[in-house]
Amino acid sequence: MKTIDELLAEGVAGKRVFVRADLNVPLDGTTITDDGRIRAVVPTIAKLAEAGARVVVASHLGRPKGAPDPAFSLAPAARLGELLGADVAFAADTVGDSARATVAGLADGQVAVIENLRFNAGETSKDDAERGAFADRLAELADVYVGDGFGAVHRKHASVFDLPARLPHYAGYLIATEVGVLKKLTTDVKRPYAVVLGGAKVSDKLGVIDHLLERADRILIGGGMAYTFLKAQGHEVGSSLLQEDQIPAVQEYLRRAEEKGVEFVLPVDVVVAPSFPDLKTKAPAHPTTVAADAMPAGQMGLDNGPETNKLYASKLVDAATVFWNGPMGVFEHPDFADGTRAVAQALVDSPAFSVVGGGDSAAAVRILGFDENAFGHISTGGGASLEYLEGKTLPGLAALED
Ligand code: 3PG
Repeated sequence: MKTIDELLAEGVAGKRVFVRADLNVPLDGTTITDDGRIRAVVPTIAKLAEAGARVVVASHLGRPKGAPDPAFSLAPAARLGELLGADVAFAADTVGDSARATVAGLADGQVAVIENLRFNAGETSKDDAERGAFADRLAELADVYVGDGFGAVHRKHASVFDLPARLPHYAGYLIATEVGVLKKLTTDVKRPYAVVLGGAKVSDKLGVIDHLLERADRILIGGGMAYTFLKAQGHEVGSSLLQEDQIPAVQEYLRRAEEKGVEFVLPVDVVVAPSFPDLKTKAPAHPTTVAADAMPAGQMGLDNGPETNKLYASKLVDAATVFWNGPMGVFEHPDFADGTRAVAQALVDSPAFSVVGGGDSAAAVRILGFDENAFGHISTGGGASLEYLEGKTLPGLAALED
């Protein structure tokens, strides 16, 4: 994989450099609630601009349906200009008149952002020809490609996979850093190796659990997916999130964990409420704490309880390596943030090399006010870091290899 340093050594002054970033930041309306992903790509863009490149930044935002949709405009990426301390032009389309004129208007060292790539159906198409046609049009905007959208490298999308095949291509600093850290977790991991998995769905984590059963010493489960595990153990889970169809897979994981001596740790108490909280008003949600094996009918589990928080901290304190993906509860509401806060605090207190992976958990750590430097590494990739750990070939990395 050629890196941006090689590109800089070759010289980029006057060249149009297409930077595929992941600016898919969480928004409240048009306000960015966590700008971590934008900050993460600034070093690459700043370095290219300093060297005189004409930088064309592109990204997706959310999941629009292949046509322009103002609700998913990439306009909030204007934050990039504030972080760079420079004017950043914004094109109102992806490969149309606005994009072409904006790029043509760039002087050496200037930066432009084009509109959400997913406003064009070719970006995410499963049809190679349709994706290729969009990539051809994107290629007209640039002379060189820099891949730095780590959060999207698991997507076989036009700007991630097809475009680098059409231009000289290089990996940006963010991708180089992310891959370097995740490689450590797959090759020479220091033990004990503890993994904390949360988030809503077990089905999103099947591959990684399968892989980790061969490698991790401890697996701690939280978040919405914990209730499928508790149900698989025969407990009532009230109206909590449940993936009934995943119960056999989960039972098989619990059996394999026992056979392999991998410690599987589930919540011993949970915070429940009568319904899902209002995340807009943050109105009090009437939470109560109950034992995980005594959840009342009609109540919904929304966070780990205090005993679980202590238990999980005790399982992390002596770990040498920790990988964490997925919040432990509905951390966006103050009544259900303690589980996620407790795991973050345990990682801050532990001397372990800690990797926080996942858009949600990374955002949670920052939104809850933790100093990101207190962690070994905060990944910008959710699905991407999980798929990397699963050992899958990631299209956006494979495309930068050759
Ligand atoms: C993410 O948020 O994980 C990345 O930006 C990829 O987004 P996607 O899951 O919509 O492809």
